Amino acid sequence: VSDAFVELFGRKQEGTWSAPGRVNLIGEFTDYNDGYVLPTSLPMEAHASLARREDDVLRVASAQGTPGGGERVVEARLADLRPRGHKGWADYVLGVAWALREAGHTIGGADIRVDSEVPIGAGLSSSAALECSVALALRAAFELDLSLEQLALLAKRAENDFVGVPTGIMDQMASLLCVPGSALLLDTRSLESRQVPFALGPAGLELMVLDTRVRHELGNSAYAERRRACEVAAAEIGVPALRDVEIARMGEALARLDSKELRMRARHVITEGARVLEVVRLLEDDSVAEIGPILTAGHISLRDDFEVSSPELDVAVDSALATGALGARMVGGGFGGSAIALVRSSDSGLVERAVVEAFAAAGFAPPRVFVAAPAATKTSPD
Ligand code: GLA
Repeated sequence: VSDAFVELFGRKQEGTWSAPGRVNLIGEFTDYNDGYVLPTSLPMEAHASLARREDDVLRVASAQGTPGGGERVVEARLADLRPRGHKGWADYVLGVAWALREAGHTIGGADIRVDSEVPIGAGLSSSAALECSVALALRAAFELDLSLEQLALLAKRAENDFVGVPTGIMDQMASLLCVPGSALLLDTRSLESRQVPFALGPAGLELMVLDTRVRHELGNSAYAERRRACEVAAAEIGVPALRDVEIARMGEALARLDSKELRMRARHVITEGARVLEVVRLLEDDSVAEIGPILTAGHISLRDDFEVSSPELDVAVDSALATGALGARMVGGGFGGSAIALVRSSDSGLVERAVVEAFAAAGFAPPRVFVAAPAATKTSPD
Protein backbone atom coordinates (compact mmCIF):
# COMPACT_ATOMS: atom_id res chain seq x y z
CA VAL A 1 0.00 0.00 0.00
CA SER A 2 2.75 2.44 0.96
CA ASP A 3 4.75 2.42 -2.31
CA ALA A 4 1.69 2.93 -4.47
CA PHE A 5 0.58 5.81 -2.26
CA VAL A 6 3.95 7.56 -2.61
CA GLU A 7 3.90 6.99 -6.35
CA LEU A 8 0.44 8.51 -6.67
CA PHE A 9 0.64 11.41 -4.26
CA GLY A 10 4.39 12.04 -3.91
CA ARG A 11 4.43 11.60 -0.13
CA LYS A 12 3.79 8.99 2.53
CA GLN A 13 0.41 8.25 4.05
CA GLU A 14 -0.14 9.10 7.72
CA GLY A 15 -1.72 5.72 8.32
CA THR A 16 -3.85 2.90 6.92
CA TRP A 17 -7.21 1.89 8.38
CA SER A 18 -8.98 -1.38 7.59
CA ALA A 19 -12.49 -2.80 7.75
CA PRO A 20 -13.63 -6.32 6.78
CA GLY A 21 -16.32 -7.75 4.52
CA ARG A 22 -18.97 -9.98 6.12
CA VAL A 23 -21.21 -12.95 5.70
CA ASN A 24 -24.51 -12.98 7.48
CA LEU A 25 -25.11 -16.25 9.33
CA ILE A 26 -28.86 -15.64 9.53
CA GLY A 27 -31.26 -12.67 9.56
CA GLU A 28 -31.65 -11.70 5.90
CA PHE A 29 -33.81 -8.71 4.97
CA THR A 30 -34.61 -8.18 8.62
CA ASP A 31 -32.45 -5.06 9.00
CA TYR A 32 -34.84 -2.72 7.21
CA ASN A 33 -37.66 -4.23 9.26
CA ASP A 34 -36.01 -3.13 12.54
CA GLY A 35 -35.18 -6.78 13.30
CA TYR A 36 -32.19 -8.90 14.34
CA VAL A 37 -29.20 -9.90 12.21
CA LEU A 38 -26.22 -12.15 12.98
CA PRO A 39 -23.27 -11.37 10.70
CA THR A 40 -19.67 -12.48 11.10
CA SER A 41 -16.62 -10.84 9.55
CA LEU A 42 -14.56 -12.28 6.71
CA PRO A 43 -10.77 -12.42 6.79
CA MET A 44 -10.77 -10.13 3.72
CA GLU A 45 -10.61 -6.39 4.34
CA ALA A 46 -10.69 -3.02 2.62
CA HIS A 47 -7.82 -0.66 3.50
CA ALA A 48 -7.80 3.13 3.31
CA SER A 49 -4.48 4.98 3.41
CA LEU A 50 -4.69 8.69 4.04
CA ALA A 51 -2.59 11.84 4.27
CA ARG A 52 -4.21 15.18 5.14
CA ARG A 53 -3.87 18.15 2.79
CA GLU A 54 -3.64 21.87 3.54
CA ASP A 55 -6.55 22.72 1.21
CA ASP A 56 -10.15 21.42 0.99
CA VAL A 57 -9.55 19.01 -1.87
CA LEU A 58 -10.08 15.26 -1.74
CA ARG A 59 -7.95 13.22 -4.12
CA VAL A 60 -8.90 9.57 -4.12
CA ALA A 61 -7.56 6.50 -5.90
CA SER A 62 -8.34 2.80 -5.80
CA ALA A 63 -6.13 -0.20 -6.47
CA GLN A 64 -9.23 -1.80 -8.01
CA GLY A 65 -10.40 1.37 -9.76
CA THR A 66 -8.95 0.90 -13.21
CA PRO A 67 -8.46 -2.79 -13.88
CA GLY A 68 -5.37 -3.40 -15.94
CA GLY A 69 -4.45 0.28 -16.13
CA GLY A 70 -2.62 2.87 -14.04
CA GLU A 71 -4.64 4.23 -11.14
CA ARG A 72 -6.86 7.17 -11.89
CA VAL A 73 -7.05 9.92 -9.27
CA VAL A 74 -10.54 11.36 -8.75
CA GLU A 75 -10.51 14.87 -7.39
CA ALA A 76 -13.28 16.86 -5.69
CA ARG A 77 -13.52 19.90 -3.45
CA LEU A 78 -15.26 19.12 -0.16
CA ALA A 79 -17.64 22.04 -0.61
CA ASP A 80 -18.67 20.78 -4.06
CA LEU A 81 -19.63 17.23 -3.00
CA ARG A 82 -23.21 16.45 -4.08
CA PRO A 83 -25.02 13.14 -4.44
CA ARG A 84 -25.15 12.20 -8.11
CA GLY A 85 -26.58 8.73 -7.71
CA HIS A 86 -23.43 7.12 -9.11
CA LYS A 87 -22.27 3.72 -7.99
CA GLY A 88 -18.57 3.83 -8.84
CA TRP A 89 -15.92 3.04 -6.20
CA ALA A 90 -15.08 6.76 -5.80
CA ASP A 91 -18.65 7.54 -4.76
CA TYR A 92 -18.37 5.27 -1.72
CA VAL A 93 -15.25 7.18 -0.65
CA LEU A 94 -16.53 10.68 -1.42
CA GLY A 95 -19.94 9.77 0.04
CA VAL A 96 -18.43 9.18 3.48
CA ALA A 97 -16.75 12.61 3.45
CA TRP A 98 -20.06 14.12 2.31
CA ALA A 99 -22.03 12.35 5.07
CA LEU A 100 -19.58 13.52 7.76
CA ARG A 101 -19.92 17.12 6.60
CA GLU A 102 -23.70 16.88 6.31
CA ALA A 103 -23.76 15.78 9.95
CA GLY A 104 -21.74 18.87 10.91
CA HIS A 105 -18.30 17.31 11.39
CA THR A 106 -15.27 19.31 10.32
CA ILE A 107 -12.86 17.58 8.00
CA GLY A 108 -10.23 19.02 5.68
CA GLY A 109 -8.79 17.90 2.36
CA ALA A 110 -6.97 14.57 2.08
CA ASP A 111 -5.26 12.20 -0.31
CA ILE A 112 -6.83 8.76 0.07
CA ARG A 113 -5.99 5.46 -1.58
CA VAL A 114 -8.16 2.40 -1.07
CA ASP A 115 -7.25 -1.20 -1.71
CA SER A 116 -9.58 -4.09 -0.99
CA GLU A 117 -9.40 -7.87 -0.77
CA VAL A 118 -13.18 -8.23 -0.47
CA PRO A 119 -14.59 -9.67 -3.72
CA ILE A 120 -16.60 -6.92 -5.38
CA GLY A 121 -20.30 -7.49 -6.06
CA ALA A 122 -20.24 -10.93 -4.44
CA GLY A 123 -22.76 -10.11 -1.71
CA LEU A 124 -19.92 -9.98 0.82
CA SER A 125 -20.27 -6.30 1.63
CA SER A 126 -17.36 -4.89 -0.34
CA SER A 127 -19.01 -1.47 -0.43
CA ALA A 128 -19.57 -1.27 3.34
CA ALA A 129 -15.97 -2.42 3.92
CA LEU A 130 -14.79 0.41 1.68
CA GLU A 131 -17.02 3.01 3.36
CA CYS A 132 -16.03 1.87 6.83
CA SER A 133 -12.28 1.86 6.16
CA VAL A 134 -12.59 5.43 4.87
CA ALA A 135 -14.80 6.44 7.82
CA LEU A 136 -12.19 5.09 10.25
CA ALA A 137 -9.40 6.92 8.38
CA LEU A 138 -11.24 10.25 8.40
CA ARG A 139 -12.26 9.87 12.05
CA ALA A 140 -8.64 9.31 13.09
CA ALA A 141 -7.06 11.94 10.83
CA PHE A 142 -9.47 14.70 11.81
CA GLU A 143 -9.86 13.56 15.43
CA LEU A 144 -13.62 13.24 15.25
CA ASP A 145 -15.38 12.23 18.43
CA LEU A 146 -17.61 9.52 16.96
CA SER A 147 -18.48 6.04 18.24
CA LEU A 148 -18.38 3.03 15.94
CA GLU A 149 -22.20 3.01 15.88
CA GLN A 150 -22.24 6.67 14.81
CA LEU A 151 -19.65 5.94 12.12
CA ALA A 152 -21.77 3.02 10.87
CA LEU A 153 -24.81 5.29 10.58
CA LEU A 154 -22.78 7.86 8.62
CA ALA A 155 -21.38 5.18 6.30
CA LYS A 156 -24.94 3.96 5.74
CA ARG A 157 -26.01 7.52 4.96
CA ALA A 158 -23.24 7.67 2.34
CA GLU A 159 -24.60 4.51 0.73
CA ASN A 160 -28.30 5.47 0.95
CA ASP A 161 -28.18 9.17 0.11
CA PHE A 162 -24.93 9.71 -1.81
CA VAL A 163 -24.57 6.49 -3.77
CA GLY A 164 -28.35 5.98 -3.79
CA VAL A 165 -28.84 2.38 -2.64
CA PRO A 166 -31.57 1.93 0.02
CA THR A 167 -29.80 -0.67 2.19
CA GLY A 168 -30.27 -1.31 5.91
CA ILE A 169 -27.63 -0.89 8.64
CA MET A 170 -26.36 -4.49 8.86
CA ASP A 171 -23.31 -4.28 6.61
CA GLN A 172 -21.75 -1.15 8.10
CA MET A 173 -22.34 -2.32 11.68
CA ALA A 174 -20.88 -5.74 10.81
CA SER A 175 -17.82 -4.21 9.21
CA LEU A 176 -17.11 -1.97 12.20
CA LEU A 177 -18.12 -4.19 15.13
CA CYS A 178 -17.54 -7.84 14.22
CA VAL A 179 -14.57 -9.58 15.83
CA PRO A 180 -13.01 -12.83 14.58
CA GLY A 181 -14.34 -15.98 16.23
CA SER A 182 -17.68 -14.34 17.05
CA ALA A 183 -20.91 -13.43 15.34
CA LEU A 184 -22.54 -10.09 16.07
CA LEU A 185 -26.11 -10.21 17.33
CA LEU A 186 -27.41 -6.80 16.35
CA ASP A 187 -30.80 -5.33 17.09
CA THR A 188 -31.16 -3.00 14.13
CA ARG A 189 -33.80 -0.92 15.91
CA SER A 190 -31.84 0.04 19.04
CA LEU A 191 -28.39 -0.68 17.53
CA GLU A 192 -27.63 -2.65 20.68
CA SER A 193 -25.33 -5.53 19.93
CA ARG A 194 -23.44 -8.33 21.57
CA GLN A 195 -20.79 -10.81 20.49
CA VAL A 196 -21.95 -14.42 20.28
CA PRO A 197 -19.31 -17.20 20.29
CA PHE A 198 -18.85 -18.66 16.82
CA ALA A 199 -15.92 -21.01 17.21
CA LEU A 200 -16.03 -23.58 14.44
CA GLY A 201 -12.56 -25.07 14.90
CA PRO A 202 -13.21 -26.95 18.16
CA ALA A 203 -16.38 -28.42 16.61
CA GLY A 204 -14.41 -29.58 13.54
CA LEU A 205 -16.46 -27.35 11.26
CA GLU A 206 -15.82 -24.79 8.55
CA LEU A 207 -17.93 -22.07 7.00
CA MET A 208 -17.54 -22.10 3.22
CA VAL A 209 -18.40 -19.24 0.91
CA LEU A 210 -19.78 -20.26 -2.49
CA ASP A 211 -19.57 -17.18 -4.72
CA THR A 212 -21.69 -17.74 -7.82
CA ARG A 213 -19.90 -14.84 -9.55
CA VAL A 214 -23.27 -13.84 -10.92
CA ARG A 215 -24.48 -10.28 -10.43
CA HIS A 216 -28.06 -9.81 -11.51
CA GLU A 217 -29.06 -6.29 -12.46
CA LEU A 218 -32.51 -7.14 -11.22
CA GLY A 219 -31.08 -6.99 -7.70
CA ASN A 220 -31.31 -3.22 -7.30
CA SER A 221 -34.92 -2.71 -8.25
CA ALA A 222 -36.05 -5.90 -6.53
CA TYR A 223 -34.33 -4.83 -3.30
CA ALA A 224 -36.28 -1.56 -3.23
CA GLU A 225 -39.52 -3.37 -4.16
CA ARG A 226 -39.16 -5.90 -1.32
CA ARG A 227 -38.43 -3.11 1.11
CA ARG A 228 -41.56 -1.28 0.05
CA ALA A 229 -43.65 -4.47 0.32
CA CYS A 230 -42.47 -4.94 3.91
CA GLU A 231 -43.46 -1.37 4.80
CA VAL A 232 -46.91 -1.83 3.26
CA ALA A 233 -47.36 -5.16 5.09
CA ALA A 234 -46.40 -3.59 8.44
CA ALA A 235 -48.85 -0.73 7.87
CA GLU A 236 -51.69 -3.13 6.94
CA ILE A 237 -50.99 -5.29 9.99
CA GLY A 238 -50.89 -2.14 12.10
CA VAL A 239 -47.38 -2.34 13.56
CA PRO A 240 -44.47 0.13 13.26
CA ALA A 241 -42.31 -2.55 11.56
CA LEU A 242 -42.57 -6.29 10.83
CA ARG A 243 -40.15 -6.87 13.69
CA ASP A 244 -43.04 -6.09 16.02
CA VAL A 245 -45.01 -9.18 14.98
CA GLU A 246 -44.29 -11.99 17.43
CA ILE A 247 -43.92 -15.39 15.83
CA ALA A 248 -46.69 -16.78 18.07
CA ARG A 249 -49.13 -14.26 16.56
CA MET A 250 -47.98 -14.60 12.96
CA GLY A 251 -51.14 -16.35 11.70
CA GLU A 252 -53.34 -13.60 13.03
CA ALA A 253 -51.11 -10.89 11.55
CA LEU A 254 -50.86 -12.51 8.11
CA ALA A 255 -54.64 -12.90 8.00
CA ARG A 256 -54.87 -9.09 7.91
CA LEU A 257 -53.02 -8.98 4.58
CA ASP A 258 -55.14 -9.21 1.44
CA SER A 259 -52.42 -10.01 -1.05
CA LYS A 260 -50.71 -13.38 -1.20
CA GLU A 261 -47.46 -11.69 -2.14
CA LEU A 262 -47.49 -9.49 0.98
CA ARG A 263 -48.25 -12.55 3.12
CA MET A 264 -45.22 -14.35 1.67
CA ARG A 265 -42.89 -11.38 2.17
CA ALA A 266 -44.06 -10.81 5.73
CA ARG A 267 -43.86 -14.52 6.59
CA HIS A 268 -40.20 -14.55 5.56
CA VAL A 269 -39.33 -11.57 7.73
CA ILE A 270 -41.26 -12.80 10.78
CA THR A 271 -39.92 -16.38 10.65
CA GLU A 272 -36.40 -15.12 9.89
CA GLY A 273 -36.41 -13.05 13.08
CA ALA A 274 -37.25 -16.19 15.06
CA ARG A 275 -34.48 -18.09 13.26
CA VAL A 276 -31.89 -15.52 14.36
CA LEU A 277 -32.83 -15.93 18.02
CA GLU A 278 -32.83 -19.74 17.72
CA VAL A 279 -29.35 -19.74 16.15
CA VAL A 280 -28.10 -17.44 18.93
CA ARG A 281 -29.54 -19.79 21.55
CA LEU A 282 -27.74 -22.78 19.99
CA LEU A 283 -24.44 -20.91 19.64
CA GLU A 284 -24.55 -19.77 23.25
CA ASP A 285 -25.39 -23.34 24.22
CA ASP A 286 -22.21 -24.56 22.50
CA SER A 287 -24.26 -26.46 19.87
CA VAL A 288 -22.89 -24.89 16.69
CA ALA A 289 -23.38 -28.04 14.56
CA GLU A 290 -27.12 -27.84 15.22
CA ILE A 291 -27.58 -24.49 13.51
CA GLY A 292 -27.33 -26.14 10.06
CA PRO A 293 -31.02 -26.96 9.50
CA ILE A 294 -32.00 -23.43 10.57
CA LEU A 295 -29.67 -21.91 7.97
CA THR A 296 -31.21 -24.17 5.33
CA ALA A 297 -34.74 -23.23 6.44
CA GLY A 298 -33.65 -19.60 5.97
CA HIS A 299 -32.68 -20.34 2.39
CA ILE A 300 -35.99 -22.00 1.61
CA SER A 301 -37.81 -18.99 3.02
CA LEU A 302 -35.70 -16.59 0.93
CA ARG A 303 -36.25 -18.73 -2.16
CA ASP A 304 -39.97 -19.40 -1.84
CA ASP A 305 -41.42 -16.57 0.27
CA PHE A 306 -39.11 -13.61 -0.31
CA GLU A 307 -38.23 -14.75 -3.86
CA VAL A 308 -34.70 -13.32 -3.96
CA SER A 309 -32.68 -16.44 -4.81
CA SER A 310 -31.40 -17.35 -8.26
CA PRO A 311 -30.82 -20.64 -10.14
CA GLU A 312 -27.08 -20.41 -9.40
CA LEU A 313 -27.64 -19.82 -5.67
CA ASP A 314 -30.08 -22.75 -5.52
CA VAL A 315 -27.63 -25.07 -7.29
CA ALA A 316 -24.85 -23.98 -4.89
CA VAL A 317 -27.04 -24.63 -1.83
CA ASP A 318 -28.53 -27.90 -3.10
CA SER A 319 -25.22 -29.43 -4.19
CA ALA A 320 -23.56 -28.46 -0.88
CA LEU A 321 -26.41 -30.07 1.07
CA ALA A 322 -26.35 -33.18 -1.12
CA THR A 323 -22.67 -33.74 -0.25
CA GLY A 324 -23.13 -33.50 3.49
CA ALA A 325 -23.16 -29.78 4.34
CA LEU A 326 -24.95 -29.38 7.68
CA GLY A 327 -26.72 -26.28 6.38
CA ALA A 328 -26.50 -23.81 3.50
CA ARG A 329 -28.13 -20.59 2.41
CA MET A 330 -27.75 -17.58 0.17
CA VAL A 331 -26.46 -14.43 1.89
CA GLY A 332 -26.87 -10.71 1.29
CA GLY A 333 -29.14 -8.96 -1.18
CA GLY A 334 -29.80 -11.99 -3.43
CA PHE A 335 -30.26 -12.49 -7.20
CA GLY A 336 -26.66 -13.65 -7.38
CA GLY A 337 -23.68 -13.11 -5.12
CA SER A 338 -22.77 -15.77 -2.59
CA ALA A 339 -24.13 -18.63 -0.51
CA ILE A 340 -22.61 -20.04 2.65
CA ALA A 341 -22.35 -23.68 3.69
CA LEU A 342 -21.58 -25.04 7.15
CA VAL A 343 -19.51 -28.20 6.66
CA ARG A 344 -17.41 -30.67 8.58
CA SER A 345 -13.75 -29.79 7.93
CA SER A 346 -13.21 -33.29 6.54
CA ASP A 347 -15.94 -32.69 3.92
CA SER A 348 -14.93 -29.27 2.61
CA GLY A 349 -12.92 -30.63 -0.36
CA LEU A 350 -15.82 -32.88 -1.32
CA VAL A 351 -18.35 -30.07 -1.08
CA GLU A 352 -16.15 -27.74 -3.13
CA ARG A 353 -15.84 -30.34 -5.91
CA ALA A 354 -19.55 -31.07 -5.86
CA VAL A 355 -20.47 -27.39 -6.20
CA VAL A 356 -17.98 -26.84 -9.03
CA GLU A 357 -19.24 -29.95 -10.86
CA ALA A 358 -22.90 -29.01 -10.37
CA PHE A 359 -22.21 -25.57 -11.86
CA ALA A 360 -20.50 -27.13 -14.87
CA ALA A 361 -23.37 -29.60 -15.35
CA ALA A 362 -25.91 -26.75 -15.24
CA GLY A 363 -23.91 -24.78 -17.81
CA PHE A 364 -22.98 -22.02 -15.33
CA ALA A 365 -19.57 -20.30 -15.25
CA PRO A 366 -17.29 -21.69 -12.52
CA PRO A 367 -18.01 -20.43 -8.98
CA ARG A 368 -15.34 -19.22 -6.55
CA VAL A 369 -15.26 -21.30 -3.38
CA PHE A 370 -13.32 -20.44 -0.23
CA VAL A 371 -13.38 -21.04 3.51
CA ALA A 372 -14.58 -18.03 5.54
CA ALA A 373 -13.76 -19.29 8.98
CA PRO A 374 -11.08 -21.94 8.87
CA ALA A 375 -10.96 -24.60 11.53
CA ALA A 376 -8.25 -23.94 14.12
CA THR A 377 -4.83 -25.14 13.00
CA LYS A 378 -4.37 -28.66 14.25
CA THR A 379 -1.18 -28.99 16.23
CA SER A 380 -0.06 -32.41 17.24
CA PRO A 381 0.61 -32.77 20.98
CA ASP A 382 4.02 -34.30 20.38
C1 GLA B 1 -27.87 -6.14 1.55
C2 GLA B 1 -28.06 -4.85 2.35
C3 GLA B 1 -28.29 -5.14 3.83
C4 GLA B 1 -29.37 -6.19 4.03
C5 GLA B 1 -29.12 -7.40 3.13
C6 GLA B 1 -30.23 -8.41 3.21
O1 GLA B 1 -26.67 -6.76 1.93
O2 GLA B 1 -26.93 -4.04 2.21
O3 GLA B 1 -28.63 -3.93 4.48
O4 GLA B 1 -30.65 -5.65 3.82
O5 GLA B 1 -28.95 -7.01 1.77
O6 GLA B 1 -30.28 -8.96 4.47
